[in-house]
Amino acid sequence: MHLEVVADDAALGRVGAERILQARADGALQVLGVATGGTPASTYRELARRADGRLADVRLAALDEYVGLPADHPGSYTTFVRRNIAEPLGIPPEHVAVPRATAHDLEAAAALFEQQVRDAGGVDLQILGIGANGHIGFNEPGSQADSRTRAVTLAERTRQDNARFFDSPDEVPREALTQGISTIMQARSILLLASGSRKADALACAMEQPPSADCPASWLQRHPHVLVVADRAAAAALSRQSLSSLRA
Ligand code: GLP
Repeated sequence: MHLEVVADDAALGRVGAERILQARADGALQVLGVATGGTPASTYRELARRADGRLADVRLAALDEYVGLPADHPGSYTTFVRRNIAEPLGIPPEHVAVPRATAHDLEAAAALFEQQVRDAGGVDLQILGIGANGHIGFNEPGSQADSRTRAVTLAERTRQDNARFFDSPDEVPREALTQGISTIMQARSILLLASGSRKADALACAMEQPPSADCPASWLQRHPHVLVVADRAAAAALSRQSLSSLRA
């Protein structure tokens, strides 16, 4: 895993957007895997400001969706991807794949989502955030390396952390449909973004603990092309050895 440490969230957004636009300029980006949540928001804002139509024919694949929320609910990830990424970049709805977590048959919805990503040619660049407990997508601790897109139960900590996106904590769904670890690992390259001191321990386990289901992001150590961009606060618990690999 390569690491780049930047000053703050604004710098994170600039570097994140640059990486994405560079991949596009290199002809290496047809399908962009998108994370939701607070961390990538600055990256998506920068992209919207700078893309100038260059990403309009990219396809988007979301990581996850809450089970049971209507797609047009303000807290759904379908809404997040539409408002923050697809619409600002001019990407039409038919080029956006989100696991359909309102489906009666979640297993079939998971299989359909994987098929859609395969049909699109697979994810070229996957943007990831990280949960305070080391989750990626909604792969909570306990998620194994061979897991595929599936329905999962959210950890209480995750529900509490995400309550800020809902009117009340009780409204946060208890389940989600998420890409699995093995699904995420199929992306050709990965850009993991981390910001703020709340992520410092999670980032340290992701980069420095032996890969294990206790810290699902640590499975990323087995991927050949991962760039971690962290602000100083999120990088605060990393060892000197990780920091000595700094590219910038
Ligand atoms: C959610 C999402 C993840 C995201 C994580 C961190 O649980 N499923 O994809 O990375 O939260 O979110 P934030 O960036 O808001 O801290």
